[in-house]
Amino acid sequence: MPGDPKAAPYETSSSRERMTRRGFLGQLAELGALTAATSMIGCGSQFPGLQPLLRKSTITELEPLKAAAARQNVLFGAATQQQILQSDSNFAALFAQQCAVLVPENELKWETVEPEPGIFNFEAGDALADFAAGNQAKFRGHCLVWHQQIPSWAGNGADAQKQLTDHISQTVGHYAGRVHSWDVVNEAINPSDGRADRLRDTVWLRSLGPSYIDLAFRTAAEADPDAILVYNETGLEYETGDSQARRAAVLELLGRLRTEEVPVHALGIQAHLVGSENRFRADKLQEFVRAVADLGLQVFITELDVIDKHLPGDIGVRDSMVANAYQRFLDAVLREPAVTTIITWGLSDRYTWLATFMPRSDHEPVRPLPLDSDLQPKSALYAMLESFRAAAPR
Ligand code: XIL
Repeated sequence: MPGDPKAAPYETSSSRERMTRRGFLGQLAELGALTAATSMIGCGSQFPGLQPLLRKSTITELEPLKAAAARQNVLFGAATQQQILQSDSNFAALFAQQCAVLVPENELKWETVEPEPGIFNFEAGDALADFAAGNQAKFRGHCLVWHQQIPSWAGNGADAQKQLTDHISQTVGHYAGRVHSWDVVNEAINPSDGRADRLRDTVWLRSLGPSYIDLAFRTAAEADPDAILVYNETGLEYETGDSQARRAAVLELLGRLRTEEVPVHALGIQAHLVGSENRFRADKLQEFVRAVADLGLQVFITELDVIDKHLPGDIGVRDSMVANAYQRFLDAVLREPAVTTIITWGLSDRYTWLATFMPRSDHEPVRPLPLDSDLQPKSALYAMLESFRAAAPR
């Protein structure tokens, strides 16, 4: 299988050799072929020879993810929720130990921050900002302009432009000086909507035209000249037609914004990876990252997790495949010095949006994150540590 180029199209032979030299990673490299095999022969297949790759350490015995990343000048953190930190002190302690940046999973979305026109609510966001500051972590804003989790009035009516600029000025102004970066516009591209510019058909586009994107960034820059302003996008990671079209559209959009001197500083690659997807090519992803870097932008990985919906039920096999997805992705992006920040969307399987959004048909709990639901390390965490340690200098 490893000799068949179709079996593991995402690995170059040199990356495979490099991983084989690295013990545990050698096993994961072999799993690259198994990932491909599984997706070809379907779910539920058993691999009798495959042992769980978990090393038996507790999380406190290991180097924290943020420390391993920081040694290579990479910022590591995760998204979480105020209610989780408030109600689960063990998780909160783990979060503080592992993360150098905190992202509110929902608390800064429009529907929470401004549920009625001009009525702002920063309570939950402030609690998260305080938690971050109290634990020497940076605080990252997500997200100002999106087509989801917005009130029904937002983007509609003659004052749509004022709604947009007021919302951004108030929200960014409130956190000015306390924020590392903002996702200013989220998911503005969707090639399957059929437009020539491949922009997503949203209420903002319909009301304001494509320049709503420019306006959002310009307004955010005015409200906080020090924040890193990010364009955040989903579905960029694979060699599917949709992913390829998205990458082309992102480059076109970012190129236009740079030409028109719109203040955009980084691309956010969400990276909700699909554990059963083998149409991954490290070289193509790196080529894309370099093209973004050539525009003068940083690249953040903003929402990393691995969807295990279509992976085998066996936990050892499943965890190994999830770890392999982390590994091959992080090894690729961390070869590019433009990638400066890695954020997972959650930290432990105890709390993950995928339990609701991508449940398994066998009703087994999903396992998409580096720590399990007992807050202990999984193969994915070891894979992340190895990838961080092997990252190119930056
Ligand atoms: C998700 C949250 O994790 C869920 O709690 C919420 O119910 C829906 O949104 N892309 C994004 C994030 O940019 O804001 C989404 O977060 C996940 C997909």
